[in-house]
Amino acid sequence: MGDTVDLAIGVLVSGRGSNLQSLIDACEARRCPARVRVVVSDKPDAFALERARRHGIEAIFVDPKGSGSREAYDSLLAGVLLERGIGLVCLAGFMRLVTPTLIRAFPGRIMNIHPALLPAFPGLHVQRKALEHGARFSGATVHFVDEGVDTGPIIIQVVVPVLPGDTEESLSARILEQEHRIYPEAVRLFAKGGLRIEGRRVIVAGAAAAAGVLLNPVPEG
Ligand code: GRF
Repeated sequence: MGDTVDLAIGVLVSGRGSNLQSLIDACEARRCPARVRVVVSDKPDAFALERARRHGIEAIFVDPKGSGSREAYDSLLAGVLLERGIGLVCLAGFMRLVTPTLIRAFPGRIMNIHPALLPAFPGLHVQRKALEHGARFSGATVHFVDEGVDTGPIIIQVVVPVLPGDTEESLSARILEQEHRIYPEAVRLFAKGGLRIEGRRVIVAGAAAAAGVLLNPVPEG
């Protein structure tokens, strides 16, 4: 008793899970005072599930077919996560829009990583859209999830240049490298109790911010 208990994270995935891997690695290396407790996928063959199993993490496929509605599916997800005492839900390449059912079960406790500088380029295929738009810079954003599409309060952003000759693949790879830095950092700040949502803004408390590597969130004081 009296020991500090690690924050239990539940990660929702649909695909290859490289961001999941960055979270697992940060927790295992103790760069983040948290542990990935469960990984849940809406796709049975998501490689992310395999990544979880390799680290001895419970990996569950929850079939969206048959659940009846998006809300019913999210209520299944909420059940799985609540049963396991999850304190933070991380969306990591989860290809479904979450409904208020899940958001209300975890108020201010769901994060997402997005491969663009929000509010520019929300939604899908955003690296291609940045190229088509002729943007000189794009980036990555970690944000809290609200009921809109990629609209929640921003925690950390990182800017990534668009280079001459970039393809969707090359730009995606450059952005992904940065995603793997900022997602564990956002989770670390949260786990240290250093994040507070005030309206649209995320305030980072002093102690947690002081040890941070890169901080676009608003430091306190
Ligand atoms: C990442 O680009 C993430 O920003 C977006 O989906 C992709 C997931 O990649 N939401 P991975 O499955 O984490 O490798």
